[in-house]
This record gives sequence, structure tokens and C-alpha cells, in this order.
Amino acid sequence: MQELADTIKTDLLKEIKDIDKEQDLVELKAKYIGKSGRITELTKNMRDLSVDERKEVGLISNKLKEEATKIIEDKEKEIHDRILNEKLSKEVIDISLPATKVCNGAPNILEKVIEEVEETFMSMGYDVVDGPEIEEDKYNFELLNIPKGHAARDAQDTFYIEGDEILLRSQTSPVQVRTMLKYQGKEPIRMICPGKTYRRDDDDATHSHQFMQIEGLLVDKDISLCDLKGTFDTIAKKLFGPDCVTRFRPSYYQFTEPSVETDISCFACHGKGCALCKNTGWITISGAGMVHPNVLKNCGYDPKEWSGFAFGFGAERCAMLKYGIDDIRTFYNTDLRELGAFDRKDGEQ
Ligand code: DAH
Repeated sequence: MQELADTIKTDLLKEIKDIDKEQDLVELKAKYIGKSGRITELTKNMRDLSVDERKEVGLISNKLKEEATKIIEDKEKEIHDRILNEKLSKEVIDISLPATKVCNGAPNILEKVIEEVEETFMSMGYDVVDGPEIEEDKYNFELLNIPKGHAARDAQDTFYIEGDEILLRSQTSPVQVRTMLKYQGKEPIRMICPGKTYRRDDDDATHSHQFMQIEGLLVDKDISLCDLKGTFDTIAKKLFGPDCVTRFRPSYYQFTEPSVETDISCFACHGKGCALCKNTGWITISGAGMVHPNVLKNCGYDPKEWSGFAFGFGAERCAMLKYGIDDIRTFYNTDLRELGAFDRKDGEQ
């Protein structure tokens, strides 16, 4: 019996010498001390033995099992240490190297301005609505009182998707029409709509074939230009500070009558005149006016009963003024250094 045990031990020692993989060791362990392993097999016929023989076999097999377990455990540790050392030597950390800079993300500057405008209008009870960027000629022009062939279309030439009827919207004003048609019976209507717009412009410092507008519309009874002036004044003060003064200048848009250009007093020089306001003391922010009776009619509202005001402005222009950016392309060239610079200017980091 002892002889057999010695042979098993010798075999184990011989086999284990060549093992260097964890998986091979698992198999070897099963072969010797597993359920039907060679050492376990020694005690298989214990039932048929005498008491003395059982004692002897028990002692020998237990001792052998202990020794084998120890041999296998030592090998396990050896393999484990080797793998760890290999890993450590591959992952040498040079602590003299400068640390990797982790850049913090920041909200996109344009989104930030839009969110600020949204919050300001929402605090006055306005809804923020959405409209399609691929639009029908009918909404982008015709229902806004700009019939086919009208000269007002020249300034808003855009990209056509299918024939003459499906286009990329050249303004967010079609959302006025869509909202009026949708909200009928749920007046008053108070909405703003920020969104992308497109024009066939050659890109330069102040023009981009894709840009963002923020449209606004209010429809109710007995609305006058005074309501527009009051609203604009409140918004301008919230966005540009309590000292901000506003003014209207006469203008022309097909979908408003009367139409105005809205100006704010220059926040850089407080009206004295500087490079930002081109020495006028005023900065033009948006186009606006009273919703044209034809537009009200087109959307199912009787102009004798209903009235409203609308406005629209360029989000980039607003952000450019606020952050002193002099090229609209900055928003679209994805240069993180520039975006980071605006963030710092905002005093947040
Ligand atoms: N849609 C006009 C444009 O793109 C801007 C505008 C002017 C919108 C007057 C309005 C408005 O709602 O009343 O030039």
C-alpha cells in the first residue's frame, strides 16, 4: 500500500513540474484528489478490508492526500504570483510623468443661451414648442402671407428637398402657424420655439447656412403693441440686466402689421457708444410686430375678435453679443479650446 502511495506521489511531483497554467493545474488536481482521483481511489474498497487494514489504508491515504493538497496549493500560489508579477512589470507607472488632465464637460454655449431665454419666457407662462425642420412651402411662406413669387422670399432662399413644396425651413415663423392651427379653442396662445433654420447663404463671420432662431407668439383678445413692448422690456432686463432700456423702430415683415425692429441699449457702454453698438448706443435684437390679420385669418382666427404679437431672433447673434464672439462659425467648428474659453468667460470655472 505504502508503495502504491509513494508511486502516486512520485507521479504527481513529476507531472506538476511541467505545469504552468491555472487550467492545467485544475485538471491535475481532479486527476489526483478529485472525486474519482487516484488518491481517492485508494480508499474505494475500504468496506472489504479488516479493521487493521482499514486503519493502515486510512492513515496512508490521508497522509498522501494532505501532502498532495499541499503540493498543489504551492503550485497554485506559484502560478498566481507569476501572473501577478508579469502584470505588475507590464504596468509600470512612471510617477515622474505629469498627471493626465481630466477635462470637465460644460454646456454648449448656444444651448445655454437658449435655455436662459426659455426659462425667462416660461416664468411668464409661455410654452416651449417644437416644429419640423423639413417644412412645407405652405407653412414656411404661404400661410404667413408670403405668396409664391413675392419679393420677400428672395431674402429667405433655402434648400429644397422635393420639388418646390418641401424645403428646409428658412425661419421658425412657420411654427406660429402650426401652433395657431393646433391650439384653437385653447387660447390664450403663449409659445416660444427655438430651433434650427436654413438659408442659401455663403458662410462668413455673420452668416451661416444653418443657424438657430427663437420664435415667439402670443394670441389673445385686445392685445396691442404696448403688450409687446412690455414683454420685450421685461425679457431684455432679465437677460441683459436691470439697467437695460428698449426701443422699437418701424420695420417690415409680411406676417406682422405694424412691424418693428427691437433694440436694447448697449450693455457694454450703457448707451454711450462703442465698437459693439457701432457707436449708436443701441443693439438690434429681433424682428417683431402685431400678427397680420391675413395670418390670423389663414389660421382660422377672426382678426376682429383676436389679436396677437410675434417676434423672432437669432440665437447665435444673442450668444455672440453676450459672450463677445465675433464669428458665427465658432459655434459650428467644434474647436474645444474656443468653447472652453467661453465657459471661462462666463466665470463658472
Ligand atoms: N422670421 C423673421 C426672419 O427670419 C424674423 C421675425 C420677424 C419673426 C418678425 C417674427 C416677427 O415672428 O414677428 O427674418
